[in-house]
Amino acid sequence: MAASPSSSARWGFIYFHPTHTAASLSFDTIFIQDNNETTIDLRASIIHGLQRDPPELPSVIMWDAAGLSHYEALCHHPAYYLRRAEVEILSQHAACVAQTIPAHAVIIELGCGSLTKTGLLLSALAAQGKPIAYYALDLVASTLAASLRSLCTAFPAEGPVQVAGLLGSYEDCLGWIPELCGIRGTGGDIVGDGPAAATPPSIHFLWMGNTIANMELVKAASLLASFRQACAAVPCAFVVGVDGCRDEERLAAAYDMSQGPFYAFMRNGLVTANRLLGAEVFEPDLWLVQGSFDAKTKMMRFGHQTDESVTGTWIQQLVSGKWTANDVQEVADLAGFVLSKIWADEAGSYGKSSQ
Ligand SMILES: C[S@@+](CC[C@H](N)C(=O)[O-])C[C@H]1O[C@@H](n2cnc3c(N)ncnc32)[C@H](O)[C@@H]1O
Repeated sequence: MAASPSSSARWGFIYFHPTHTAASLSFDTIFIQDNNETTIDLRASIIHGLQRDPPELPSVIMWDAAGLSHYEALCHHPAYYLRRAEVEILSQHAACVAQTIPAHAVIIELGCGSLTKTGLLLSALAAQGKPIAYYALDLVASTLAASLRSLCTAFPAEGPVQVAGLLGSYEDCLGWIPELCGIRGTGGDIVGDGPAAATPPSIHFLWMGNTIANMELVKAASLLASFRQACAAVPCAFVVGVDGCRDEERLAAAYDMSQGPFYAFMRNGLVTANRLLGAEVFEPDLWLVQGSFDAKTKMMRFGHQTDESVTGTWIQQLVSGKWTANDVQEVADLAGFVLSKIWADEAGSYGKSSQ
């Protein structure tokens, strides 16, 4: 992969010559799941997770419509610094981030959520006069549609930035990218001679909200590598929002496990597990939301516990890595990317990086 010269503290952007024209893209939501169902078998992954030692519930089940609504409430909570930090960084540096994205590029925002920050970057791209095809990927049709509505109003069809939704999981997106690149037809057949026969666009993945760290570091690296491989001969780059805050008091306030939106978000994880299992397996009132910082893996680990004693049953459901530039460097190295730029907030703990 080509990249700009980098120091150890910078993420890399990789660009070639994009040919995908914005005009050929739809403003609608594209269903990228197989048979209208995401490729993740949620029930099976719950059962598999509960059989592990210690048991786990998959975090992906937390992101249903109710979970997203609790998460959005959390983002507006005064103690939840992550959203504000990202808005601050994008407000100051959106033009610089946009400069790393060439005209006619395709942007795919992974786990786009409410899209409240995305407009800052898209406006900067529009101000630079760049035609851009932007795709917002997330799991829930109703919330994706609601999020897209406001973005589509801000970026109408006549403008340089064209907006579309992608309904599905990261895995579904991996399966869809060859189609986007013109490598494979919609029937799943290989068209022409494979990757070399197609003239591909460059693809830029936007992954904000510290979502990259909602999985173990090695898994995050492996997913990044899968996206790089899915793009095959097409140049690709990532811009990720990463939280490096290790201030215990700040973390405890942001992730209030006894009440408020974070508590509601966690509790909804049990409700969703019950719904997917088709039975009241967990009585939410009998479980406490618990969590702590795991210094070895630099992760906040959150889950459910029957009581606070060491003998209480513990089920982990969510991790939120608090990664420094060195950790992000490690992810980039493992995934085969070069880290070339970091834009940090005033406090220096939250970074928007590109690789
Ligand atoms: C931490 S939130 C971040 C939302 C948004 N990017 C932001 O910065 O506010 C994580 C987002 O990723 C989505 N998500 C989680 N797992 C996913 C998966 N496997 N495939 C697609 N989206 C996923 C969730 O639905 C949610 O919108």
